[in-house]
Amino acid sequence: MKLMTASPLFHLFLCCATQTLGVQIQSVPDINGEGVIHTELTKIVSLVCQSDGGSEAEAEEELVWLRNDAAVSLKEGNKNGRSTVCVTPIIHEDNGANFTCHLRKNATASASVTLNVTYPPQLTGSENVTVEEEAVLVLRCDIWANPPVSSLTWTLNGSKVDLLAGAFTVTNDGFTSQLSAERVEKSLHEGTYQCSADSPIYGGHRKLFHVTVTAKTMKLMMPIIAGLVVVVLTALLAVASRWKKIATCCK
Ligand SMILES: *[C@@H]1O[C@H](CO)[C@@H](O)[C@H](O)[C@H]1NC(C)=O
Ligand SMILES: *[C@@H]1O[C@H](CO)[C@@H](O)[C@H](O)[C@H]1NC(C)=O
Ligand SMILES: *[C@@H]1O[C@H](CO)[C@@H](O)[C@H](O)[C@H]1NC(C)=O
Repeated sequence: MKLMTASPLFHLFLCCATQTLGVQIQSVPDINGEGVIHTELTKIVSLVCQSDGGSEAEAEEELVWLRNDAAVSLKEGNKNGRSTVCVTPIIHEDNGANFTCHLRKNATASASVTLNVTYPPQLTGSENVTVEEEAVLVLRCDIWANPPVSSLTWTLNGSKVDLLAGAFTVTNDGFTSQLSAERVEKSLHEGTYQCSADSPIYGGHRKLFHVTVTAKTMKLMMPIIAGLVVVVLTALLAVASRWKKIATCCK
């Protein structure tokens, strides 16, 4: 009994969807209730648009696909009545991309979906950093992620970086978190740093930096080299002027 009453309702729904939309998009993976397809980097999204016109003629209507308002070029045989678009591999730039399909004849008969590409922050492994005493120390972590990371911490030798004690500055522009110190001191700044970020869906990610502070060799060498150059140049000039005198004398 239930089936019999449900069936006309179902037809009614189909008929109305057709009249208001004209085209329908189906996707692998599925489209959620808000017209969003959830996917990840390197995966594949396959979209199928179908004109769901009632008559035979409408069922063969030419279709147009737009990606963020730019037309997607379609091969012959992938245009009439049914058209497939594959997005592969999924990259960062596909996040938020909007795909719209409409009838070539009537752009009001359209349907669209949006991609939500999630990715964790690119934080792995470790890096060796060597910095001279009194130089500037800069450590950077890539924290760009979707959804954004929910927390971010910098540690030095296992405890939270003491910003005041080390005269550290931390900046964060949503893409990179940067820890820097203007004037490095071995006793304050040498050690193992870690930046760790938590993603609401991918969990914790971290990267290590082994920072070694060396004596400021180059800065000591520079005045010495400059001094040597002056001495050599002066000697050469002296010989040159002397030579002139000798040369005139012998004429
Ligand atoms: C275009 O499509 C819309 C939505 O399907 C429909 O309401 C409208 O009547 C169509 N216009 C023409 C000229 O076919
Ligand atoms: C994308 O998906 C993530 C994880 O489900 C969610 O947190 C985020 O709000 C979604 N973004 C959009 C724009 O739908
Ligand atoms: C961190 O640990 C290393 C190795 O134990 C040590 O040499 C360094 O001085 C420590 N750094 C700080 C700032 O305490």
